[in-house]
Parts: sequence; C-alpha cells; structure tokens
Amino acid sequence: MTDQNSTDRPVTILCLASYFKGTTFLTAAKQAGCRVVLVTREKLHNEPWPWDSIDDVFYMPQLAKQPDIIYAVAYFMRGKAVDQIIPLDDYDVLTVAALREHFRLPNMGESVMRHFRDKLAMRVKARQEGFRVPEFTAVFNYDQLREFMDRVPPPWLLKPRAEAGAMGIKRMDHSEMLWRKLDELGDLQSYFLLEQYVAGPVYHVDAIVWRGKVVFATAHQYLQPPIDVAHDGGVFVTRTMPRKEKETKALLKMHNQLILALGMERGVAHTEFIKGADGEFYFLETAARVGGANIEQLVEASSGINLWAEWAKLETAALRGQEYQVPEDKGAYAGVMICLARQEWPDLSGYQDPEIVYRVHKQQHAGLILASPQQERVEQLIRDYSQRFAQDFLAVAPPLDTAPT
Ligand SMILES: Nc1ncnc2c1ncn2[C@@H]1O[C@H](COP(=O)(O)OP(=O)(O)O)[C@@H](O)[C@H]1O
Ligand SMILES: [Mg+2]
Repeated sequence: MTDQNSTDRPVTILCLASYFKGTTFLTAAKQAGCRVVLVTREKLHNEPWPWDSIDDVFYMPQLAKQPDIIYAVAYFMRGKAVDQIIPLDDYDVLTVAALREHFRLPNMGESVMRHFRDKLAMRVKARQEGFRVPEFTAVFNYDQLREFMDRVPPPWLLKPRAEAGAMGIKRMDHSEMLWRKLDELGDLQSYFLLEQYVAGPVYHVDAIVWRGKVVFATAHQYLQPPIDVAHDGGVFVTRTMPRKEKETKALLKMHNQLILALGMERGVAHTEFIKGADGEFYFLETAARVGGANIEQLVEASSGINLWAEWAKLETAALRGQEYQVPEDKGAYAGVMICLARQEWPDLSGYQDPEIVYRVHKQQHAGLILASPQQERVEQLIRDYSQRFAQDFLAVAPPLDTAPT
C-alpha cells in the first residue's frame, strides 16, 4: 500500500484507545496540523484527555467488538474522511490492523501487526528468520506438546499469546501440572504458548522506525526480570545500558535486524530480550507501541526524544509524502524506579538530588526518573534509592491475571 496524500491538505488521524494512553501522541498530531479523532471507551470519558488537541471524539462500550467497531468508524467516515488509524494501546493493535485492512489505509495490516501483538506469531517468524528464541511450542497438538516436554527440560512458562505486564504467565514445573492447567483452560488453550524458562537478565530496546529502517534505538536493562517484580513484588527498575560497550552495540544490531525481519514499516517498537547462560541474547517479545511503566519519560530523559511525539510526527509526514528526520540522541543515561506504595499518595519530598528529572504521580505508587551524563551516577542513585524505596514505600500486592478494566 502506498501513501497518496502528498499535498498539505489537513490529514485526519483517528486514534483508538481502550485505555487512557497516548496523550502526547494526540497533542503532537494536532501540533503537526492533523485533524485528530479519538475513539475510546465510554467509561474513560472523564479521563484528562487533551481536549484542545482533539477535534472529534466518539465512545464505544468496547473497541475490539466486531463488526461494531467497523460500523462505527464507517458511519463516522461518511461525513469525514480518515487518512490513518493508530492504536494508542496494545489491546487496540489488532483492531486497528483490521480497520486498516477494511478501509484500505496505509501502514501495517493484519498479518504484519500480528508479529507485534501475538507472542506465538512473533516467535515463529523470528525463528524462521534465524533469530535466537527460547524453545517454544504452540498449544495445538498434544503429540507436539509431549515431544516438547520430553526434549526441553522444565521449568516452562505457559503464556497467553496476547497479554502484557506478565499477566497470566504461569510457571510449569512438570508435565502433570501442564495437563491440569490445560483442563482448566478448556477451549482457551490455543490462546497460549508453552516455552522454555531462560534464567537471566532481561533487556528492552525502544525504537523508532521510518520507511523500513530503525532510525533511533536505545537499549536498557531491567534490574530484575519483570516477571519477578510482577509476581513477588519489589521495586521495578530499568536503566540505560552503557552506550559504548560491545554488548550494547551487539544487542542493538540484532534488534535492528529483527524489527525489519518482522516487517515493521514505520512507527515505534518496544522489544525485549533475555540473556541466556550461554551469554547470548534471546528474543522475548516485541510490540508496536511505546513501552509502559514510564518508558516514555525514561527514553526522553536519556535521549531527549519523545517516542509518542515522534510517532505522531512521522505518521503525519508519511501521510503528506514528506521526509521525516529523527532528532539527535543527546546520549545521556537515565533510570526509572517505581513501586507499589503502602501510602495512597507517598511523600517523596525527601528525594532531592538534582538528577531527578520526573516524579511519577500515580495513586498508591512511588516513582522517580533519574538522568545524568554519567552512567555510574545513575547506577549509584539507583542503588541508594532502591534501598530507601523498600523502607519508605514498598507494598506487596498479588499478581493480576487479566488486565484491570
Ligand atoms: N522464556 C522465558 N524465560 C524466562 N523468563 C521469561 C520468559 N518469558 C517471559 N519471561 C519473564 O516474564 C516477563 C513477561 O514476559 P513477556 O513475554 O515479556 O510478556 P509481557 O511483558 O507481555 O507480559 C519477562 O519480562 C521475563 O521477566
Ligand atoms: Mg514483556
């Protein structure tokens, strides 16, 4: 599909948001001169959306229901042409892909978008393209499941193909545990995959893609694997990897090849890797979105680049047939730390180092973003502050099995 709008007529971008997300995208799209349409759920109408940047809004009980969403968008389009549809939340990615296919709009459609949403699809494709992935199998055929469990030593993870935030991931220590779980799941089994558990540090790369090339990418390492924090509680920490080190460069190189092999045309991506005992990086998962957990502010603090805003700018440029130039990465270091707090509105006034560039304002959460030109300074603050966070705020909550609504 090619983009045909090369004049400067106002272009209309319709954004789907099943959750309150992407306000920076809406504002930046408006600033770039677009007409901005928001489609969200009725129950989110009171959220602080940037109304000044939104030309039209309509509400649905839920956005993923077919054919309701097609009927609703088609009804809107009778009066106002739409040039592009963008998912602001991960749950909207496949709905948007289906809408783009139906209305013949540019950018990635259903089969490519699946590589950025369905954990089985991304694995199959990455493996086919020659990338290292943890051993895995679909949950379709029982002979194949038996063969997998005979071949790959436990523990394994049984993982929903389309959830996020480590939700619903279950550790399986032996085959009996798996068969019992599959009985429980019944008809839902095929929406899961089973994979080898790889013990090791977890990394994420956040990127901007333009005309099939990664034009910006930055690598971070989680202090603890996200699954440990999600299941056992603790302070969630991630920070910029040493930029000049060989390992960082190797990770970025593999990432850049992978994103293109998965077929991304343009937009943003958040991709995770795990390092195995053999010292190699294994591809864990990817998403066509800005990472959650304040990764927007984290990446902005180290690079000066706002992923949401750049995404809006490049989509607008593409629709107008113009060039897009990513701003220069300022090359600093940043870290985010965030935890569930015992207090409703924790008091962080005791944290006053000049490296604090952002304070997370979220009920029952304590969170900070730190930035410095020096990697060691960020590491040192993270060490000090993690201990203080544990004493001052840290609460432990049970893991969620499905997304909060
Ligand atoms: N194969 C694996 N081996 C070890 N840990 C894993 C594996 N797959 C996932 N994890 C852990 O679970 C977390 C969540 O899994 P992931 O596939 O990233 O799903 P999501 O983040 O969408 O919930 C990862 O960040 C990692 O800590
Ligand atoms: Mg993940």
